[in-house]
Amino acid sequence: MGQYPDINIRPAVSADIEDMLVLLKELFAIEEDFTFNEPLQRQGLALLLAGRQNSCVLVAETKRQVVGMCSLQTIISTAEGGRVGIVEDVVAAPAWRGRGIGSGLLEAVEEWAGKHGLRRLQLQADSGNHQALNFYKKQNWTKTRLVCWQKRLKHSNSS
Ligand SMILES: CC(C)(COP(=O)(O)OP(=O)(O)OC[C@H]1O[C@@H](n2cnc3c(N)ncnc32)[C@H](O)[C@@H]1OP(=O)(O)O)[C@@H](O)C(=O)NCCC(=O)NCCS
Repeated sequence: MGQYPDINIRPAVSADIEDMLVLLKELFAIEEDFTFNEPLQRQGLALLLAGRQNSCVLVAETKRQVVGMCSLQTIISTAEGGRVGIVEDVVAAPAWRGRGIGSGLLEAVEEWAGKHGLRRLQLQADSGNHQALNFYKKQNWTKTRLVCWQKRLKHSNSS
């Protein structure tokens, strides 16, 4: 990892949670389906960091400042007959965009996926987030015909 000068991509640790919360706040402000809720995102990050066998959380760091992150979690796909990865939380700090952080993070999760025998990576992006859609296209991701549906569960404690 760390292919780009001055930018080091490494697995996240608990001490990165505060910086990652700042990044998630940026991200959730862009994605209409999400509302930033610090306690929930803090809890989610802690759960992700605790379950490393089936997940990976990466941060991009420059001069000891975390300026980007992304996460990957695995599920079993009957279509693929094996594990696939769901990529989420892809974000670079506004002042650091366009310097290879986003593409570096995607390369790094792809590398993790390869080492763990994943057969496909997938992600969801806000249909109005043209910047991100163009970015993924440039990184050779392809759009599918699937759309995302959800159902909030009664026992959910989130709004
Ligand atoms: C999308 C995002 C993660 C990209 O990260 P980044 O560090 O700015 O992207 P990079 O510098 O690695 O760019 C990689 C390539 O994509 C291109 N690219 C980046 N943004 C682009 C855009 N808006 N339109 C077209 N191409 C774009 C770059 O030009 C670069 O191409 P190059 O290698 O030929 O120069 C970043 O812009 C971001 O954090 N956006 C806000 C959060 C967000 O929308 N996240 C996605 C949620 S699904």
